[in-house]
Amino acid sequence: MPIEIPPLTASDGLVILTGAGVSAESGLATFRDAGGIWSRVRIEDVATPEAFARDPGRVQDFYNARRSQLKDPGVTPNAAHRALAALDQSWPGPFLLVTQNVDDLHRRAGSARMLAMHGQLASRLCAACEERVPWTEDLSPAMTCPSCGVTGTLRPDIVWFGETPYHMEEIEAALASARIFASIGASGQVYPAANFVALAARAGAMTIELNLEPSDGGRRFQQRRYGPATEIVPEFVAAVTAALA
Ligand code: OAD
Repeated sequence: MPIEIPPLTASDGLVILTGAGVSAESGLATFRDAGGIWSRVRIEDVATPEAFARDPGRVQDFYNARRSQLKDPGVTPNAAHRALAALDQSWPGPFLLVTQNVDDLHRRAGSARMLAMHGQLASRLCAACEERVPWTEDLSPAMTCPSCGVTGTLRPDIVWFGETPYHMEEIEAALASARIFASIGASGQVYPAANFVALAARAGAMTIELNLEPSDGGRRFQQRRYGPATEIVPEFVAAVTAALA
């Protein structure tokens, strides 16, 4: 079933949430699909502050490998990233792309009104002085923070389980006045993002799930469209654009 978008005006707000599924066709693994990242590594070994305290080298290696994958010439923005960037550039009203992804593919596609709620691989954070610096190389526990001079505190600028996602106030404000909320390529299993559909629905937004297959929370959305992101996201963007009066 094609998505049916109601007539929209230039002041209507759009909020789009993306998850790992939007980058799957760019060659980046998802987390919870068969063969996904969490079937190969345990969250508690690589994605918690406790894991970093216990074995920083192992945690750094995990993120170093994922950061270096972004330099792979085959890993480039796909048609879904490009369609969302075009929507950002053309939408006259409030627009916010919230991504749970830590890759840089939305930015490389040209998205600007975007917040990375789980942080970014291409950034490093000092746990001591909290300085954030764009960073595309490996990190190691032997490194010293050039800003505060402490050794062993440089970490990936990633929100780990047990930590608070970034930009929550701004995201909740956008959801509270959204006309359309779409979740794309997200399994709906990680909070607080899994609750965005409820916040948007409470604000009166039309809620839409776009995913390869129904997610666990799929029934919480008013409309659903299933298929590869590179096919269904450009269709969705065309439908939203055509609905603008
Ligand atoms: P998941 O791996 O949990 O879910 C990815 C979703 O994308 C699944 O529902 C798939 O069906 C769907 N999918 C796969 N390929 C697709 C395609 N080609 N087109 C469209 N959909 C496709 O990933 P997330 O929901 O993003 O957090 O995971 C949320 C968070 O859990 C991540 O940000 C990460 C992880 O633990 C942290 O590491 C903090």
